[in-house]
Amino acid sequence: MTNPKAATSQLQIVSFLFFFLLAILPHPILSTKSSKGFEFLKNLEGCQKGQTVKGLRELKLYLKKFGYADFHKNHTEYENSDQFDDTLEKEIITYQLYYHLKATGTLDAETVKQMTVPRCGLPDTVKGKTPMTSGKKEHISGGKISSLNTFSHHSYSFFPGMPKWPLHKSHLTYRFSSSIRVTDIKTLRAVCSSAFARWAEVTHFTFSEAVHPLHKADIEIGFHRGDHGDRNSFDGPGGTIAHAFSPTNGRFHYDAEENWSTNPAQGTMDMESVALHEIGHLLGLGHSKEPNAVMFPTIRTGSLKRQLYVDDVQGIRALYRIHP
Ligand SMILES: *[C@@H]1O[C@H](CO)[C@@H](O)[C@H](O)[C@H]1NC(C)=O
Ligand SMILES: *[C@@H]1O[C@H](CO)[C@@H](O)[C@H](O)[C@H]1NC(C)=O
Ligand SMILES: [Zn+2]
Ligand SMILES: [Zn+2]
Repeated sequence: MTNPKAATSQLQIVSFLFFFLLAILPHPILSTKSSKGFEFLKNLEGCQKGQTVKGLRELKLYLKKFGYADFHKNHTEYENSDQFDDTLEKEIITYQLYYHLKATGTLDAETVKQMTVPRCGLPDTVKGKTPMTSGKKEHISGGKISSLNTFSHHSYSFFPGMPKWPLHKSHLTYRFSSSIRVTDIKTLRAVCSSAFARWAEVTHFTFSEAVHPLHKADIEIGFHRGDHGDRNSFDGPGGTIAHAFSPTNGRFHYDAEENWSTNPAQGTMDMESVALHEIGHLLGLGHSKEPNAVMFPTIRTGSLKRQLYVDDVQGIRALYRIHP
């Protein structure tokens, strides 16, 4: 992935990532074969401006990957250095504000703790703005939503350009296709069927598994590890745990190297909670700053989020202009 143009043209994915890859660096975190999640962060606790500490380079890539890069500086030079400068401080503050942390601009314990929580591979913001900023504008110029006043207080977001499924396409089919076997198909079927049902309850969508092997399904769900051919490599245990593409791509991948479970205890990740989140992306939602929302970017092992939160429901209804 040394040619950013080539990378971006193939990434019909997540228009989110598209924007970041435009300003790509020679060795983005996506292409490194780090197989230890976010472990590099553990050495960085306590770092402050002015210091040079090994691992800060990786932190810069982390912040860039998840949407916190500040592109005003010479980025090549910035990203190849382990120096804690003004730009890094600014990016950390932006991160802290998103996660409702104290905006210290340093790598305090709370910040590092939040950064190491397993998370979705998609970014949180686009070019330092929450994606909803553009969404809001389009809504206003579209002039079709009457309750705009409630719109400014939400936490949900959309992908840039607000891609969504065409309105006539209310029935979506899905298929399972994994490169690694993690769980039996019966379990995966039950997990996903339950997650799809939650979204069906609050939208016009209906979902069913594609039965005929020759028919194309709208959505493809599977377990993969490391580099699995979509230029969004997984990073081994911990770190990023799943990702999905914006409409109408339809791909949703679990990182096969997590400890997946249907009844999570400490150290295992709930398949259904993560499916609920990734289906939100498949339908067109970006990340939400609301910690209770299913679309919040991070999820701890052992925790459950199998119900949509009001912010999730408002988000999907705003995108499809569903008036309950
Ligand atoms: C950025 O910095 C690098 C290394 O110092 C330098 O080679 C390059 O020309 C600079 N680019 C810009 C646009 O200033
Ligand atoms: C998976 O479980 C093993 C055994 O309990 C544990 O050592 C490991 O840290 C877990 N991995 C993740 C990514 O949580
Ligand atoms: Zn996500
Ligand atoms: Zn993938």
